[in-house]
Amino acid sequence: MALFGIGIIGCGAMGTALARGIAASGAISPADLWIYDLDKQKADAAAGEMGLQTAAGPEELFGQCRYIFVAVKPQDVAAAVDSWKDLYRPGVHLLISLAAGVTIKFYEERLPAGSKVIRLMPNTPCLIGEGAVAMSAGSAVSPEEAAAAGQLLSHLGLTVPVPESLMDAVTGLSGSGPAYVYLFVEALIDAGVTAGLNREIAAKLAVQTVLGAARMLQESGRHPAELRNEVTSPAGTTAAALAVLEKGSFRGDLIAAVMAATERAGELKRE
Ligand SMILES: NC(=O)c1ccc[n+]([C@@H]2O[C@H](COP(=O)([O-])OP(=O)(O)OC[C@H]3O[C@@H](n4cnc5c(N)ncnc54)[C@H](OP(=O)(O)O)[C@@H]3O)[C@@H](O)[C@H]2O)c1
Repeated sequence: MALFGIGIIGCGAMGTALARGIAASGAISPADLWIYDLDKQKADAAAGEMGLQTAAGPEELFGQCRYIFVAVKPQDVAAAVDSWKDLYRPGVHLLISLAAGVTIKFYEERLPAGSKVIRLMPNTPCLIGEGAVAMSAGSAVSPEEAAAAGQLLSHLGLTVPVPESLMDAVTGLSGSGPAYVYLFVEALIDAGVTAGLNREIAAKLAVQTVLGAARMLQESGRHPAELRNEVTSPAGTTAAALAVLEKGSFRGDLIAAVMAATERAGELKRE
């Protein structure tokens, strides 16, 4: 039987963001978007707000949906899979996991042979449709199926395919990345206050500067060094500031930070 529905297991921050993104895109009728949570009240609240369907249990979800998103915490994945592994049909369902550190093999070992599993590493800007999402597909997923899943995910932001072996690196860069940007903006605001601006104005200028610079990079497609050179005149103010950042190993610290997060992601997976 061909199923058309999209199901989301877990109605927390990510599950709700996903439901909101897909519902808002108009790519699917709300009647075909199903959500399920152990806490039915939570699912009902999210479904009511967006006009979606609430599944009474995994049976209904797997009976209605082809794409099944797993959006529960990593430590809850094993129990969740145990509760519906007998409902999974390799020829019917495609599982898409958002759980950090949980491998495709973890699912494949628990589900029937030939199971189709895609693993994602999203980040929090997915909550506003501006996420950076990396995606790896298991060996049973065809290129067409991976492309269709990528299309669905486009409602969360930018999606890029990566080999699963690089998921820890993705965690270090874009998964944890928003926190680096928040720290940068926080420091920029403090710097503005130190230089004499009031905090409210400094915050507005700092946020818009990061937003504007990111959009310049995105829209021009140019290398960051090129854009940086254009705002760095000889013996000017920007050159004076950049000299301080390079002396303080801004670039080296950022590389070391991403490497530390990447290594920590590997450790957490082993734990
Ligand atoms: N939030 C992020 O920024 C972020 C970023 C990257 C990746 N992720 C990944 O996204 C996943 C979800 O994260 P989250 O922050 O949205 O978690 P969350 O807010 O805790 O939401 C998970 C929801 O799933 C429910 N749940 C637990 N076990 C279930 C089961 N067997 N069946 C149905 N529902 C179940 C939980 O209920 P209870 O609360 O009652 O347990 C909770 O409502 C995680 O695996 C995480 O690694 C999140």
